[in-house]
Amino acid sequence: MWKECVLLLVITHISTGIDPHSSQYFSSIREKVKEIFYHAYNGYLDNAYPYDELRPLTCDGVNTWGSFSLTLVDALDTLAILGNYTEFRRVANLLVDTLDFNQNINASVFETNIRVVGGLLSAHLLAPKAGMEVDPEWPCKGPLLTLAVDLAKKILPAFDTQTGMPYGTINLKYGVDPKETPETCTAGVGTFLVEFAALSRLTGDQSFENIALRAVHALNASKSALGMIGNHINVVTGKWTALDAGVGAGVDSYYEYLVKGAIMLNKPELMDIFKEFLKPIEQHIKQGDWYMWVNMNTGHTTMPVHQSLDAFWPGLQTLYGDVEKGYKTLLNYYSVWYRYGGTPEFFSIPHNAPIQKREGYPLRPELIESTLYMYRATKDPALLEFGEALLYSINATARTECGFATVKDVRDHTLDNRMESFFLAETIKYIYLLFDPENELLQTGKGASIRKMPNGRKCLFGAGGYIFNTEAHPIDVSALHCCDTMRREQERSKTLQLFEEFDPKRVFEMNRQARDSNRKPQTYHEAEDPTLLNNATDQNVRLGCEPLPYHMKMSRYGQLFVND
Ligand SMILES: *[C@@H]1O[C@H](CO)[C@@H](O)[C@H](O)[C@H]1NC(C)=O
Ligand SMILES: *[C@@H]1O[C@H](CO)[C@@H](O)[C@H](O)[C@H]1NC(C)=O
Ligand SMILES: *[C@@H]1O[C@H](CO)[C@@H](O)[C@H](O)[C@H]1NC(C)=O
Ligand SMILES: *[C@@H]1O[C@H](CO)[C@@H](O)[C@H](O)[C@H]1NC(C)=O
Ligand SMILES: *[C@@H]1O[C@H](CO)[C@@H](O)[C@H](O)[C@H]1NC(C)=O
Repeated sequence: MWKECVLLLVITHISTGIDPHSSQYFSSIREKVKEIFYHAYNGYLDNAYPYDELRPLTCDGVNTWGSFSLTLVDALDTLAILGNYTEFRRVANLLVDTLDFNQNINASVFETNIRVVGGLLSAHLLAPKAGMEVDPEWPCKGPLLTLAVDLAKKILPAFDTQTGMPYGTINLKYGVDPKETPETCTAGVGTFLVEFAALSRLTGDQSFENIALRAVHALNASKSALGMIGNHINVVTGKWTALDAGVGAGVDSYYEYLVKGAIMLNKPELMDIFKEFLKPIEQHIKQGDWYMWVNMNTGHTTMPVHQSLDAFWPGLQTLYGDVEKGYKTLLNYYSVWYRYGGTPEFFSIPHNAPIQKREGYPLRPELIESTLYMYRATKDPALLEFGEALLYSINATARTECGFATVKDVRDHTLDNRMESFFLAETIKYIYLLFDPENELLQTGKGASIRKMPNGRKCLFGAGGYIFNTEAHPIDVSALHCCDTMRREQERSKTLQLFEEFDPKRVFEMNRQARDSNRKPQTYHEAEDPTLLNNATDQNVRLGCEPLPYHMKMSRYGQLFVND
């Protein structure tokens, strides 16, 4: 069987006559990805806008997570990444003119944050690259940022609990319903830091970041004696209501945001929290190269299943440096995927079969996401073959007249009338980036640009160091640093002015000290000369070492973030 597969792949490459490493090969796959994107995107525009999602079997629209024109918000930055700047500008202006969040809608606090706040934030940060006229104070101001802030403020009251953990649902107009259930999943508590810290650092309003951090720490403080956390928790009492510990559905992006938060905010304590969680994960949850579900108090297996959402884990492993373990797990996950041409939501390991009522594949991105991270880390061309296979398989099984449909059952490829917005926001974006290794979002300093701010300070943008939120919306960390630093400088100069009125000598001395402290070794985000970025060397490798670009952090083997 294996031999047959290998042979087929060899034949495909010979028959197309294209060397898989050539730029011609990459660009030919990118064209195919674009064709698939536009089939889905135009299908949505023509049949479903302004509803949240396209229904790909009946070719009409439906509101699902709110009334946000969700697919459009979620797909906006994909347009920029695919290079369609005219359409990006049209849609960004359309959303600024039409979105209204003051509505009587019960919205998921988690989904609203990752899809809508995240989508608006990354569109705001990509706007000048797409040729939009921006505020002179961009990235610290702008209409898309204002929208993101408005919406985030509407979900903020959900965090007003004794534990600091948020309710799962909030009404955008009236706040949390008095009868609202206090049960939330772990990911629903701990997946706010990337977006909320971005909001705080761009706008100067610290409350977002503080509130997200409080929830992160509240989960850390709720560990069992074995150091594990469960799947659902009561946000009023802080008691666990589902005790299953694992890395997949209901938990996943909490771990993701601990690692990404540590990198993005230069906060080693977040990586410390993650590393403590990693011990019981490897001891109890990891079984062979699979990750199962176990009871958080006893460590006994409760569900011997592989979930399609688990597949983000190998990508996360490359971020903290465990590439080898991640690769082995990825191979296991491919084995399930290749059998069906898609991963069922739940796959029973002992029965070697999909689990009833969980045999669907809603075109999820996690496996291709990990493939992209693993490719960045290893450059192993075998990973490209998976990317191609995924593309052909989705096109062959899920394509309909007006879009792409959730596969209802991976065994017979029957379809459901749903196209989730993450198909355009994530799945297609990650496939495209896998075949666009020179893309600026994956770069380490090439193509960086310097922008002069109104106060005369120069900021560096687009120099790598992008963090993708859990909905694949990229955040340019240097933009956060730019606004944050300018604000601090303004505050410092205000303080200095006050002193000046009293004691000129002292002010002179403080100015001198401030100047001297500015001469300390430049960190990556402060660097105003892109050539500095290319000088990162091994001795720079330590946690929170900003001179090291993001992609290099991804590509290290083994010792990343290990300080000891
Ligand atoms: C950009 O998207 C619009 C809408 O789908 C499409 O009409 C146009 O051809 C696209 N432009 C490019 C360069 O792909
Ligand atoms: C929101 O949820 C509350 C509580 O379940 C319910 O009473 C209310 O009707 C819902 N509102 C909408 C617009 O669905
Ligand atoms: C995480 O929780 C553990 C156990 O409650 C505690 O010892 C540790 O200090 C916490 N870590 C951080 C960074 O707060
Ligand atoms: C996807 O399917 C369409 C329609 O059948 C076809 O024209 C296109 O070439 C396919 N693309 C890929 C990548 O398989
Ligand atoms: C960076 O490296 C280049 C070439 O190795 C060198 O010319 C340049 O001076 C270095 N820059 C700094 C700031 O060290």
